[in-house]
Amino acid sequence: MLNKLAELKKSRNAVILVHNYQRKELQDIADFTGDSLELSRKAANTNADVIVFCGVHFMAETASVLCPDKKVLLPDLQSGCPMADMITAEQLINFKKENPGATVVTYINSSAAVKAETDICCTSSNALNVVKSVQNDKIIFCPDRNLGSYAQKVLNKKLILWNGFCPTHMKMLPEYVIEQKKKHPDARFLVHPECCPETVALADEVLSTTGILNYVAKSSHGEFIIGTENEITFKLQRTYPDKKFYPVTDLAVCPNMKKNTLEKVVNVLENMTNEVKVPAEIAERARLPIERMLKIS
Ligand code: 13P
Ligand code: SF4
Repeated sequence: MLNKLAELKKSRNAVILVHNYQRKELQDIADFTGDSLELSRKAANTNADVIVFCGVHFMAETASVLCPDKKVLLPDLQSGCPMADMITAEQLINFKKENPGATVVTYINSSAAVKAETDICCTSSNALNVVKSVQNDKIIFCPDRNLGSYAQKVLNKKLILWNGFCPTHMKMLPEYVIEQKKKHPDARFLVHPECCPETVALADEVLSTTGILNYVAKSSHGEFIIGTENEITFKLQRTYPDKKFYPVTDLAVCPNMKKNTLEKVVNVLENMTNEVKVPAEIAERARLPIERMLKIS
């Protein structure tokens, strides 16, 4: 299978971008792994003709918006993000009407159609800088109410929050964290800002997925409680066998991220199927808020 993949990659001039939550078998064949911001940057700058995006649908859409001339393939078209599906373009248009004059900051976990109604996008790693950059006291933040609450608290700035959330991160309850902290009192608790405010309040550091990986790489600590999808915990344990990593809960799995497999990657490259293509009219409007974000962070 790996030989076939190598041949296909060469003949198609393809690059394989893999999100940090993807199965190990995909991280192993990646040209680049990373968080949403890093992968958007890689997509924007690649010379490849084909991007195989091992992530969820909104990530492939973002790559298509940034590279309209390239073919973006998603190994499993069913790998969506429930949080991104919690707001539609029509709902955002109505929300803007209810809050006239507001600047719209949209988390990258959203559809291209929603981005097209947005002033500036953000990811988990640059949300604070993006919100800080907005020169308007009236800001709509969507769809993640938890990332919005976190930015609101750190920046001491009131935001108009949309009520979206990540079902996977909502499983990381504060009581589980307290239990783990009791069992491992010396562990640092690193959390993703998609967790609920009560869980985030218990954290030593609030970081994106790559932020968590980089923090551990530089830290002299030997034990960590990891408050994000469990692939990060597994990856850290493989990379640092002498350190200890504890998940907040074994329930912290994103089923959508796990739909992509090595077999499906080979299949889409062989047959050039599962293309994610954003219609030109939407892509043009969605590009601006993404590019604004890429400029400031
Ligand atoms: P990152 O940008 O931190 O990788 O987060 C993406 C995501 O979907 C987290 O659930
Ligand atoms: Fe979406 Fe949550 Fe999965 Fe991230 S972990 S892709 S936010 S459902």
